[in-house]
Amino acid sequence: MTRLGIIGFGALGSFYANMINREHRVDGLTVTAICDIDPERLALARSLYPDAHLYDSADKLLKDKKCDFVSVAVPHYAHPEIGIECLELGMPVLLEKPAGIIPKTVRELNECALRHKDVPFGIMLNQRTNPIFRRLHQLTLSGKMGSLRQFTWLSRQFRTQHYYDSGSWRATWGGEGGGVLVNQAPHQIDLIQWMFGMPSSVFATANVGFHRNIAVENDVCAQFVYPNNATGVFITCTDDILGENRLTAIYDKGRVRVLNNSRMEIERLCDDEESLGTNYTDAELEDLRKSGKLFETEIIENEKDPFANSEHAKVFRAFADHLANPSKPLVAEGVDGLNEVVLAGAIQLSGWLRRPVDIPADDDLYLAELNSLIEREGKYPKR
Ligand SMILES: NC(=O)c1ccc[n+]([C@@H]2O[C@H](COP(=O)([O-])OP(=O)(O)OC[C@H]3O[C@@H](n4cnc5c(N)ncnc54)[C@H](O)[C@@H]3O)[C@@H](O)[C@H]2O)c1
Repeated sequence: MTRLGIIGFGALGSFYANMINREHRVDGLTVTAICDIDPERLALARSLYPDAHLYDSADKLLKDKKCDFVSVAVPHYAHPEIGIECLELGMPVLLEKPAGIIPKTVRELNECALRHKDVPFGIMLNQRTNPIFRRLHQLTLSGKMGSLRQFTWLSRQFRTQHYYDSGSWRATWGGEGGGVLVNQAPHQIDLIQWMFGMPSSVFATANVGFHRNIAVENDVCAQFVYPNNATGVFITCTDDILGENRLTAIYDKGRVRVLNNSRMEIERLCDDEESLGTNYTDAELEDLRKSGKLFETEIIENEKDPFANSEHAKVFRAFADHLANPSKPLVAEGVDGLNEVVLAGAIQLSGWLRRPVDIPADDDLYLAELNSLIEREGKYPKR
């Protein structure tokens, strides 16, 4: 049995404990240690998992070594700090997304990881297990569709006011570090950089407290420019009760559309678009269209997930397998978390300054702007 320690027994940490110790959805893995700084959460853990070792600080859990690796499921700002302590103590660590809020601190985490390459370090970018996004990642890398020209991703989500009010750290600058860009959308932001590469600049509108009583952004429209002048638009919000998740990517040689993370249509043109657009007459193109030879379509549909969030179980499975056999890959290496944090931070900064921002953004400017928001909010000390 591989033994897991959970740091942070909140909504997610308790979901993991239930998934692993009660539903037994990760073969060979068992939760043996749990830590939370909140006595009420610790009491709940005690009642549900009387056999587990319990701790009121991450430091105590890590030093007691009653587990083979830990999952860090605490509010985002603390991820780099606890991650660094794990790596320095030689404890393999699976960090929650986002890797952090402040790019500078995530860079420090990655530098620490470089000094401790022998300590397994992963990040819960669970949507990278989705076969559709893996395929799109490969498709872009292979160059079979040519270069990316443009994408649009509409990822409209829904969170109630009750959700925002459920934790004092939520939706605050000082406790959470932002809104949809640092909590709900990091999966999409990571996939954007994983599937399409890092853009060179962003121009964003980020409305704060849009139809919700919160201080942070929950309605965002970001426009990216890539080094080859390709463009991308990412739209996200948390006030769409009907919800929408629709990605379209245009390449030199066709189009890919993904609906609800579960259905992908790949349309491959019979020739490069530029060749079709310059070497053919309108009549010739019409003939190609009518004869059905202009493009061919491949449709991929994911199987229905019998559980909510099997993706997380897959990430734990891969981590445990990697511990047993280091040649087996993690779903995402811990150091991979940095690009997502850099991208989310650049979108935020552009929204705050109301102007385009180069990527990577200026770390010091980002921190100064964040700190002025924290100061104005008046609930937490500056970072
Ligand atoms: N990968 C995913 O799909 C996914 C889903 C949900 C949440 N998350 C991430 O998980 C993290 C936690 O989110 P949540 O919704 O469970 O929050 P939560 O507030 O419900 O739980 C956080 C818990 O951590 C505890 N805690 C705070 N600081 C601590 C510390 N220093 N040491 C030990 N315990 C500490 C709190 O008391 C609380 O019980 C966030 O970073 C969030 O982004 C990821």
